[in-house]
Amino acid sequence: MRKIHKIEDVMTWNVKASIKPNERLLLYKMIKEHRPEYVLETGSGASTVCILLALRENEFGTLTSIDKPDFDGCRKRGGSNKIRKLWENLKMHYPDWTVHEEDIVEKLPLVVDEIPHIDFFLDDSFHTSEHVFFEFDLIIHKLSKGGIFAMHDVGAAKLQSFVKALDDNPEFESLERVRALKFWRRK
Ligand SMILES: C[S@@+](CC[C@H](N)C(=O)[O-])C[C@H]1O[C@@H](n2cnc3c(N)ncnc32)[C@H](O)[C@@H]1O
Repeated sequence: MRKIHKIEDVMTWNVKASIKPNERLLLYKMIKEHRPEYVLETGSGASTVCILLALRENEFGTLTSIDKPDFDGCRKRGGSNKIRKLWENLKMHYPDWTVHEEDIVEKLPLVVDEIPHIDFFLDDSFHTSEHVFFEFDLIIHKLSKGGIFAMHDVGAAKLQSFVKALDDNPEFESLERVRALKFWRRK
């Protein structure tokens, strides 16, 4: 795998089910701008690279990722192995990064228990309303004031009840959206 030193290096990277180049750029910019200390993501891949690059440039903050690449079949035809190869590469260059190859439903509650607080959360795993509410309800207790909640696939019909609930939640402010990636800030 080629080296990934800067955000431009991940713009042309092609992997199934990953966030798209303009979404990658915005994710990277949001991490740079908000300078989170504890970042948590469900669903790893291009998003992981963008977050790690930005944290390294910030010289501050750590990332924990949870993903089982074979879990829901969205990464068929070698996609899962491509993700595992990426992980091996990232582990060498980002020794502080933690990735759990486990079921999010089982692992997320344990990770949330252990993490002091969450300053930035990216939900890009199982795109059903039930699952995104599950993740949100778990992490909300640890999401810091001013913390960011980001979600991918916000245009999907099945996620509209969740998107509307968050848009209407007075505790949250809608921030930027590009394509299917949207950010909210806890007030
Ligand atoms: C859309 S992809 C993640 C894309 C990633 N954010 C990127 O930018 O490349 C979703 C991933 O979540 C995994 N996944 C879905 N539900 C899961 C669960 N309950 N536990 C673990 N992994 C899960 C899928 O197998 C897939 O690898």
